[in-house]
Amino acid sequence: MNLTLKIWRQKSAKDKGQMVEYKVTDISEHMSFLEMMDVLNEQLIAKGEEPVAFDHDCREGICGMCSMYINGEAHGPDRGVTTCQLHMRMFNDGDTIYIEPFRAKAFPVIKDLVVDRTSFERIQQAGGYISVNTSGNTQDANAIPISKEAADKAMDAATCIGCGACVATCKNSSAMLFVGAKVSQYALLPQGQVEATDRVLNMVAQMDAEGFGNCTNTGACEIECPKGISLENIARMNREYLSASLKG
Ligand code: SF4
Ligand code: FES
Repeated sequence: MNLTLKIWRQKSAKDKGQMVEYKVTDISEHMSFLEMMDVLNEQLIAKGEEPVAFDHDCREGICGMCSMYINGEAHGPDRGVTTCQLHMRMFNDGDTIYIEPFRAKAFPVIKDLVVDRTSFERIQQAGGYISVNTSGNTQDANAIPISKEAADKAMDAATCIGCGACVATCKNSSAMLFVGAKVSQYALLPQGQVEATDRVLNMVAQMDAEGFGNCTNTGACEIECPKGISLENIARMNREYLSASLKG
């Protein structure tokens, strides 16, 4: 495939940035999107030009780093995949592909396609943990009965990889699908009950402090989420928040 790429180039956080056009040739349909970007960067380096900066780590849908907005969609046109799992067979020979960073006030651009998502880390630090009983009377976790339904839902929520596609997709730049998943994975399990009240209050307060918008139930986040995190998690977080506020 021969493709035209229109890529957001921005030298630093302070630079204004602009779309720049590049051509790539002989791209195999079996390549991943990031491999196609590698081909472009090898061409740029060979010409003595600055390669396009983009985030990646695992390249297998686990780390949540590869935050690209491709043709107006977070992680591109496929469903249930991250950018590193997106294959070039989703595109056609001669296509023009627009590639931009995830855009949100709480995800400032650092360089080209790399954004700062440490706001997610700070939300996690505000409550995304459980305490460990070291009294000597610690109950074996395997001895605590948990219903299959609760275990399955907690596991589903725990598959959130913190990629930020939900925020990038949302017209309000809301992080409620991410925070809902992180609150839910503990709220559904007995081990999460000790800090349950503080957790939801603190994580939501941090989410607001970071400048994420509110949820208006558009549902775009659920559609673009590569891990299929359900809107049900936002509803659960809202219930947890209401009950914590009444206690608090
Ligand atoms: S909820 Fe989905 S889209 Fe949002 S951070 Fe988690 S995995 Fe990514
Ligand atoms: S590089 Fe890790 S999820 Fe894409």
